Amino acid sequence: MRILLTGKNGQLGRCFQDVLKDTNHELFAYGSAELNIADASLVTAVVQQVKPDIIVNAAAYTAVDKAETDSENAYLVNAKGPELLARQAANLDIPFIHVSTDYVFDGAAVQPYSPTDPINPQGVYGASKLAGEINLAAACEKHIILRTAWVFSEYGNNFVKTMVRLAKERDALSVVADQYGCPTYAGDLAQAILKICEQHEQGKALAWGLYHYCGDTPTSWHGFARAIFAKSYELGVISSCPQLKAISSDQYPTPAKRPEYSVMSTQALASFGIQAPSWSISLALVLSKLTG
Ligand SMILES: NC(=O)c1ccc[n+]([C@@H]2O[C@H](COP(=O)([O-])OP(=O)(O)OC[C@H]3O[C@@H](n4cnc5c(N)ncnc54)[C@H](OP(=O)(O)O)[C@@H]3O)[C@@H](O)[C@H]2O)c1
Repeated sequence: MRILLTGKNGQLGRCFQDVLKDTNHELFAYGSAELNIADASLVTAVVQQVKPDIIVNAAAYTAVDKAETDSENAYLVNAKGPELLARQAANLDIPFIHVSTDYVFDGAAVQPYSPTDPINPQGVYGASKLAGEINLAAACEKHIILRTAWVFSEYGNNFVKTMVRLAKERDALSVVADQYGCPTYAGDLAQAILKICEQHEQGKALAWGLYHYCGDTPTSWHGFARAIFAKSYELGVISSCPQLKAISSDQYPTPAKRPEYSVMSTQALASFGIQAPSWSISLALVLSKLTG
């Protein structure tokens, strides 16, 4: 299968390249320097040149706080880019696989969000990702959107790497304890995307549409930090665990408001034979990769 991947330098992009190494698929991977997904003529030229069997979009504007004052660029990458890629996929009559976010929700729920629950993004990033979902679905019927959350990996910048760095620098840390979500390893998400690609290749009729994919056990950022410190200490990544203080979101103001509760139900993914992965198992894997 010829797979066109955008956003090859990001967490998901790099993990997707890793999982493809063990396969016979032909991967055509692009970073923003080679393929700006908001550039219509470039997107057309690359897709026509590659003639892929499937397009996977791992590119996104992910700077949640910066987006509040840079909304034009956030919308170009998160709303226009997916639409342009989806139009090309529709022209070739091939599937378009895209990744979105839990930040399309306002966080007022008390039980896990399902894909059909009302959306109400609280910031520019979430609104721009939601616009991308709507645009691409209108442009290409054969689409799969996977909303994910709290992504971590051995690559790039993420909460796990930040916590490990801070644990080496400080004796005590304060972490927000009133926002709940599901940590997700980018490598698990990459495996799930590959599985969907391969089901299409095998001729399985895929149920196009919107799904949720995230780690199995909801936690708070504080709970996630505690797990990171415990596992890092166990694996010898850090020599001692810093004192961990629980604080409220009010005590850690950010330019973009985050949902208090963005736990998502992954039940619908059963139709692909995919289950929510264990983020604690993947956390141990990532920490061991970080130590080499
Ligand atoms: N990170 C999270 O916690 C999180 C949570 C929920 C959902 N998501 C979603 O999950 C997906 C993967 O996120 P991630 O963490 O892997 O993101 P990431 O590490 O920030 O990578 C995003 C990549 O997008 C590329 N990009 C930015 N603007 C571009 C443009 N105009 N054209 C082409 N490429 C462009 C960048 O490429 P270059 O490096 O080449 O410049 C970057 O490597 C995204 O859709 C994101 O919205 C992420």
